[in-house]
Amino acid sequence: MKYICLIVLAALLKHAGAGCYSGTDPVMCTDTGCNGFCSEDNGCSCGSDETKTCVPTTCGIKDISSCCPSGYFWNSNTSCCSDELTCNPPCLSDEKCASVNDVATCVCNDSSYAGKKFADFSPLLTCLPNIMVISVSQCLLTHLGFDYTNMHLLNNDSDICNIHYPEIINNNRVESMQLKVQSGWCGNKMTFDSSKLYYKNSLYIGIQNKSVITVDPMTLNFTCSYNMTMQTSLIYALKPVLSTVSISGPNGTGSYALTMSAYNNPDYTSPIQAEDTVEVGTYIYLGLFVKDADGAAFTLRVEECYATPTSDPSDINKVYIVRGGCAYTNDVDSWVEQNGKALEARIKLSTFSFQSQTNVYIFCNAMLCPNTTNSQCDKCKTARASSTYTQTMINIPLDDNRFLNSGSQKAVSWTVMLGFILVLLKINN
Ligand SMILES: *[C@@H]1O[C@H](CO)[C@@H](O)[C@H](O)[C@H]1NC(C)=O
Ligand SMILES: *[C@@H]1O[C@H](CO)[C@@H](O)[C@H](O)[C@H]1NC(C)=O
Ligand SMILES: *[C@@H]1O[C@H](CO)[C@@H](O)[C@H](O)[C@H]1NC(C)=O
Ligand SMILES: *[C@@H]1O[C@H](CO)[C@@H](O)[C@H](O)[C@H]1NC(C)=O
Ligand SMILES: *[C@@H]1O[C@H](CO)[C@@H](O)[C@H](O)[C@H]1NC(C)=O
Ligand SMILES: *[C@@H]1O[C@H](CO)[C@@H](O)[C@H](O)[C@H]1NC(C)=O
Ligand SMILES: *[C@@H]1O[C@H](CO)[C@@H](O)[C@H](O)[C@H]1NC(C)=O
Ligand SMILES: *[C@@H]1O[C@H](CO)[C@@H](O)[C@H](O)[C@H]1NC(C)=O
Repeated sequence: MKYICLIVLAALLKHAGAGCYSGTDPVMCTDTGCNGFCSEDNGCSCGSDETKTCVPTTCGIKDISSCCPSGYFWNSNTSCCSDELTCNPPCLSDEKCASVNDVATCVCNDSSYAGKKFADFSPLLTCLPNIMVISVSQCLLTHLGFDYTNMHLLNNDSDICNIHYPEIINNNRVESMQLKVQSGWCGNKMTFDSSKLYYKNSLYIGIQNKSVITVDPMTLNFTCSYNMTMQTSLIYALKPVLSTVSISGPNGTGSYALTMSAYNNPDYTSPIQAEDTVEVGTYIYLGLFVKDADGAAFTLRVEECYATPTSDPSDINKVYIVRGGCAYTNDVDSWVEQNGKALEARIKLSTFSFQSQTNVYIFCNAMLCPNTTNSQCDKCKTARASSTYTQTMINIPLDDNRFLNSGSQKAVSWTVMLGFILVLLKINN
């Protein structure tokens, strides 16, 4: 019975921090003769004699490894210098705590990688809207014989291209490298197909400088893909018909970029380009979007759009396409497919030309709304004072041969002529 008690007592002592330093050389800072404390400059020393180090019960400094004498490690739970090896912060899942130069340090736990081969190496690729991040496990690479500190883009090792830094992902320490999502940036190659844009680059990872070499340096090809959208499709287009103006937030604060562009497919992913020719009578799709605004807080409302034969927004021949946020079909066929519900607005219209004019300019007036249920931004309603809107304009490249063509297109033009007369009548009233 006595022995059992002793064993239990020993176990309790261990858990109560039995490993705490309690020696006399160096003395405890709390000793009356010492009255010491720890400071960033002097470490832990006696108040009576700064040259005399002491062992604290409060380690209030950044470099906690300098609080304890050799062979002891600061334990914040027991608030003492313990002979138990303790890493603080605790080590990650593939690390173990070891004493390196008398400092408790998290090092790779090689046995957690026992038997791992190159095939087990799988970098993590994160494709964000503006950056790509490739992350590789520090411990696994080291275990396999690579040197993650010698890591750079294969085709460009300049500093501005190689921004890499350690971080913790899934409780593992990884080395991450950031790249801009931009064609040509530091060797990025951009390709596309009908549904996606792809950005590709290659990462070089060197090997450790050891006498026995077991691996070759590696080249890691990686590709981020992005859905083709109203916005991303403008990136691959060489000369998209677009215009970008600045628009302010709902309450007049902030400044965002409003882009208007035109597409020739109903998915709004095939931009009309300056060299294209749009045939009169076909459908085109006007896309307006605001980048980098908070989509949860704002929506984009297109209040009105109209077409003119000149770049003068007050041209008296103007033909309305959208009024009060909704399709205005008196003159031409148009459909407001999305408005006031997101940071994107979509308007479909049947193209037309002005009699004896070679150009069609489209003007839209838009504003940012707060995204609240009672904002009414997706409703049809009469315009507010025009000064609250931001105006943007694009020029649609029409088929130059249209005047030689017959029938149906002339009919379209006639409709426009009627609209033109009506507008004139309104003005005369
Ligand atoms: C402190 O206690 C917590 C909870 O018991 C434990 O998870 C942690 O590892 C301890 N930290 C140290 C440095 O001993
Ligand atoms: C190291 O990894 C091995 C295998 O996963 C594991 O059994 C061991 O507990 C780990 N060591 C430490 C100190 O975490
Ligand atoms: C590396 O990329 C930078 C930025 O794109 C560029 O200025 C530089 O010329 C490139 N260097 C080489 C060797 O390609
Ligand atoms: C590799 O290690 C050897 C011996 O340790 C050293 O002489 C040499 O400079 C090292 N090479 C590089 C590139 O670090
Ligand atoms: C990586 O890409 C380069 C060209 O970009 C190519 O030559 C090489 O074969 C690729 N490597 C692998 C393993 O796919
Ligand atoms: C990309 O497109 C696919 C298929 O249309 C869709 O399921 C997916 O959610 C889209 N991804 C993003 C990030 O929009
Ligand atoms: C303007 O609106 C934004 C977003 O709704 C909000 O964060 C900001 O505080 C507002 N500013 C003023 C002056 O009301
Ligand atoms: C507007 O807010 C609602 C919830 O308040 C949210 O469900 C919706 O996605 C937001 N709209 C946009 C364009 O983010």
